[in-house]
Amino acid sequence: MKVDVILGLQWGDEGKGKIVDVLAKGYPVVARFQGGPNAGHSLQFEDKKVVLHSIPSGIFRKGTTNIIGNGVVLDPIIFREECANLISMGVPVQERLMISKKAHLILPTHRIIDAASEQSKGASKIGSTLKGIGPAYMDKTGRNGLRVGDILSSNFKERFLALKEKHISFLKQFDFQYDANQYEEEWLSAAEYLKNFSIVDGEYEINQLLDDSKRVLAEGAQGSLLDIDFGSYPFVTSSNTTCAGACTGLGVAPSKIGTVSGIFKAYCTRVGSGPFPTEQDNETGELLRKLGFEFGATTGRPRRTGWLDLVALKFAVMVSGVDQLIMMKADVLDTIDTIKVAVAYEVDGKVTDRIPYDTYAEITPVYKEFKGWKRDLTKVTTEEDLPFEFMNYVRFIEKEIGIPIKIISLGPDRDQTIIRESNN
Ligand code: GDP
Ligand code: IMO
Ligand code: MG
Repeated sequence: MKVDVILGLQWGDEGKGKIVDVLAKGYPVVARFQGGPNAGHSLQFEDKKVVLHSIPSGIFRKGTTNIIGNGVVLDPIIFREECANLISMGVPVQERLMISKKAHLILPTHRIIDAASEQSKGASKIGSTLKGIGPAYMDKTGRNGLRVGDILSSNFKERFLALKEKHISFLKQFDFQYDANQYEEEWLSAAEYLKNFSIVDGEYEINQLLDDSKRVLAEGAQGSLLDIDFGSYPFVTSSNTTCAGACTGLGVAPSKIGTVSGIFKAYCTRVGSGPFPTEQDNETGELLRKLGFEFGATTGRPRRTGWLDLVALKFAVMVSGVDQLIMMKADVLDTIDTIKVAVAYEVDGKVTDRIPYDTYAEITPVYKEFKGWKRDLTKVTTEEDLPFEFMNYVRFIEKEIGIPIKIISLGPDRDQTIIRESNN
């Protein structure tokens, strides 16, 4: 069996949580492979609304094994809170979850470094979620990190304190007030709490599950344009959010990757700083924010909004070898008269279909306009009932990107989803 992958193709918040929850029904295994509690994946079903940060979105499905892979960075305090919430909802988290020993731990001092570093950047700050993601990955690649498996060792506390001291030395370069001890006890007890879970050699487990003919769904966090290598550097997150990240973040070979599904909103959003060529910092953008309820699931920050960008979407599809598309939140455009889509960029007076290397390049999008469908789509459940203007929009995107849109989501609920079985 193979690992099918779901990736965000924009700047995150495409609706990955909803779709993974919908598709998890057909997968005995769901695995997260990168990122950490910077993610906020929203699920909605049976009048329940949940936001998951570190736990895979298959956790509500009976019979599904969920794996937090080695590529993830885990904050024990946030993880314990997330578990408590799920347990209060009657979800048997311990039975359904495994955590890789090789996943790295986010320490309280990682969060302090994140905040100090952002403050020192002033106006050029990344707009980080301040969950300690960048500093935790820095310690991973710098070979100083603590991993989940280390919790089981007898000298764990000493190693924690040694890393904390290193962080305190590092923090001397910043003019930043902090209390390094504030969360220490809570963190150590939350780390102890992790021992209640199956702490496993994730790469062996997942390959064994594949050998046992179990289908695996890999759930990406963030989006392709926030990828550490291919995003708008330095306004990115600190992991590979593209398909290759699923191999390194789970320990599966590239030959084991099956279908790669790319998920995008019918328009665009971005939280934090960095280029956003189609941004509508105006009334239209305000309307999209209001209609799409575009406020961060992790931080509550208002999301920047704008039109769909096919230059960026094509790039994301290329880098990850995306096989099929999933279009989200088209219902948000239900009342819009004229919908715009960027089909090219103009940079230095030249029209191009490539994203410029220079993150600060001035980009003027070249737009194509579409007549809006002006109908409430939130109750439509079959493709046949979708209006002509809407299908026109769908077919144009498919033609431009060159791959089919397999799923259309028309509302936050599990049930507001049209799966186009026959569309190849
Ligand atoms: P994720 O990080 O990719 O999982 O996405 P988020 O959960 O951060 O943001 C997506 C938001 O859109 C959430 O509030 C979802 O409940 C909501 N949502 C998902 N799909 C749809 C949809 O098709 N239509 C509408 N209106 N909302 C949706
Ligand atoms: P999900 O999985 C949207 C953004 C932050 C910031 C940049 C770096 O819910 O789609 P970090 O905290 O990683 O140092 O922040 O990346 N960012 C996200 N934006 N959705 C996310 O996750 C994000 N995770 C990080 O806003 O611009
Ligand atoms: Mg999100």
